[in-house]
Amino acid sequence: MLSVLEYSSLFIDYLNQRSLDKEPKNLYEPINYILDLGGKRLRPVLTLMATELFEQPYHKALDAALAIEIFHNFSLVHDDIMDDAPLRRGQQTVHEKWDINTGILSGDAMLILAYQLFENYDGPIFKELAKLFSKTAIEVCEGQQYDVDFETRDDVTIPEYLMMIEYKTAVLVGAALKMGAIVAGASKECQEAIYNYGRDLGIAFQLQDDYLDAFGDPETFGKQVGGDIIENKKTFLYLTALQKSAKDEARQLEHLFSITPIDPSDKIETVKQQFIDSGAAKATQEEMETYTQRAFQSLELVAISEDKKQLLRDFGMNLMKRTM
Ligand code: IPE
Ligand code: IPE
Ligand code: MG
Ligand code: MG
Ligand code: MG
Repeated sequence: MLSVLEYSSLFIDYLNQRSLDKEPKNLYEPINYILDLGGKRLRPVLTLMATELFEQPYHKALDAALAIEIFHNFSLVHDDIMDDAPLRRGQQTVHEKWDINTGILSGDAMLILAYQLFENYDGPIFKELAKLFSKTAIEVCEGQQYDVDFETRDDVTIPEYLMMIEYKTAVLVGAALKMGAIVAGASKECQEAIYNYGRDLGIAFQLQDDYLDAFGDPETFGKQVGGDIIENKKTFLYLTALQKSAKDEARQLEHLFSITPIDPSDKIETVKQQFIDSGAAKATQEEMETYTQRAFQSLELVAISEDKKQLLRDFGMNLMKRTM
């Protein structure tokens, strides 16, 4: 096995080899732009790692890893339109740099480019990868729609929020790992267990994303801090703050999440303070820990050595410390 950093740099080399220098420029430039902006490359690294965990060389999984990363970046281009987000990885979002129509079409093309990469696999592996990809992609769409629907609902529950983040974010992390296991020919039991590890880690990851959206350092986070508050996102922070606040504070919070002031700075400050004072900020971090531990439990069912399991635990522990 190599280190996370080594898998990441091997993946980036592969990505760079496949950069699309094609016409029309306004379709392909935004695709190269977003893919070259960087990011943590978590999902493709997990795909490559999973293949090697199950005793096959990582290079067999490069196309699956690339498909996952292109799909992830497609989802970000469209997500930034839907969330009206100005910044991604510290730079302008695609629809800000070009325009909304460019973001829509370049995103569509990325989804298709991702699918196309599975053509490089034969027979049963092709079928299993394509099947998992389709199931996952439709779940991400469902999660994204719930996320948007929740913005204007005032009766969202915590179980509904957890279901929403499982769909919009966690299933792709699970699928990234399962694809590596499929490529390596791992048993069905191992495929399921590694998927469950990824899914629960993905839930922890989105809980943290929501936490950082409010409390992250603008220097490192790379996205507009307070963006979820501006957009009235019903996150774990918000839903828990409502539960834990006294009546007057809860009512104020509900009111703030029903309006969209032109200058949102006061709203953001008030809401963040209430997230802290109510104990919701702390509860969110505890929930993150719970899902990370749950992810580790699934590793018990994966037929790999203790050393390899430790690599996956280290990966999860490092994720919890992230600032971007
Ligand atoms: C951002 O994903 C979208 C979420 C699911 C929170 P990442 O945080 O993995 O984004 P990059 O690829 O590292 O920029
Ligand atoms: C990301 O949710 C989910 C998908 C892109 C599918 P967010 O909207 O929280 O992601 P960021 O914060 O913009 O990266
Ligand atoms: Mg977003
Ligand atoms: Mg979103
Ligand atoms: Mg977010």
